[in-house]
Amino acid sequence: MRRNLFVPAALATLALGIASAGAADKTTVGFSQIGSESGWRAAETTVTKLDAKKRGVDLKFSDAQQKQENQIKAIRSFIAQGVDAIFLAPVVATGWDPVLKEAKEAKIPVFLLDRTIDTQDPSLYLTAVGSDTVHEGHVAGDWLVKTEGAKPCNVVELQGTVGSSPATNRKKGFEDAIAGHDNIKIIRSQTGDFVRAKGKEVMESFIKAEDGGKNICAVYAHNDDMAVGAIQAIKDAGLKPGKDILVISIDGVPDIFKAQMAGESNASVELTPDMAGPAFDALAAYRKDGTKPPHFIQTESKLLLPDTAKQELEAKKDLGY
Ligand code: AHR
Repeated sequence: MRRNLFVPAALATLALGIASAGAADKTTVGFSQIGSESGWRAAETTVTKLDAKKRGVDLKFSDAQQKQENQIKAIRSFIAQGVDAIFLAPVVATGWDPVLKEAKEAKIPVFLLDRTIDTQDPSLYLTAVGSDTVHEGHVAGDWLVKTEGAKPCNVVELQGTVGSSPATNRKKGFEDAIAGHDNIKIIRSQTGDFVRAKGKEVMESFIKAEDGGKNICAVYAHNDDMAVGAIQAIKDAGLKPGKDILVISIDGVPDIFKAQMAGESNASVELTPDMAGPAFDALAAYRKDGTKPPHFIQTESKLLLPDTAKQELEAKKDLGY
């Protein structure tokens, strides 16, 4: 009898031991996401969660709803929970040093995803995965320069979130590309916060201010969502997007391919939503034998034109978004 009582107890202890050994082996990552301001952002969240699941990573996800203070709180909570790594998509570029120093003191490596930060201390993060956002703006500007040739072209610009690295850099890259081409001028520039509804609203005000849109040759939007909003504003004004006003943007999300297939978007620059994949790979190597990844892991930024929109749209379906 006594023996029978001990056997299940011993088995339970063994099972508990195995379970906790398994739990100890499991990599835990805290991911502080900006929010869900755009289709691209939603895709990045989906891709990250799916990838974590596939790799058996325990992903603790926190949506900051566009607020840096919420991201700082989330990072502190990840540190308190003792995660193995922190993935951070920083909403703005400045103000991260104090909290990232706390992560460093706790020996938790930080991986920046898709946006970069301004810091004097590069040791505050292990690596940043993202595109060269100045280059993205350059690719967009080059396309316009090539398309317009010597024709005069007044451009209106829809900027991303003020103080975010892609908004600052995409503006710079585009301006660099059109510099020296005096026929191409940015006549108005305002933030639409990377949000579709705001892109529409700001475009409406540009159209109103510029002779019902007749004085506008092209809209350059820092992301596809704002471009889709602008397309609606152009149509509401009785003009043809893609013809009366050229539409150029960045991301390469399904809705922009649909707009390209309808002749309403002229060009977009690809930004892959799979930033987490290279970060998970780098983290695995780092945890295995301390291999340090390059400080910047760059993703591709190719120009996406209407002639390949159908294939691109199909390819996105295959990726699950
Ligand atoms: O940081 C990447 C940018 O953020 C994407 O271009 C935009 O769609 C998103 O909101």
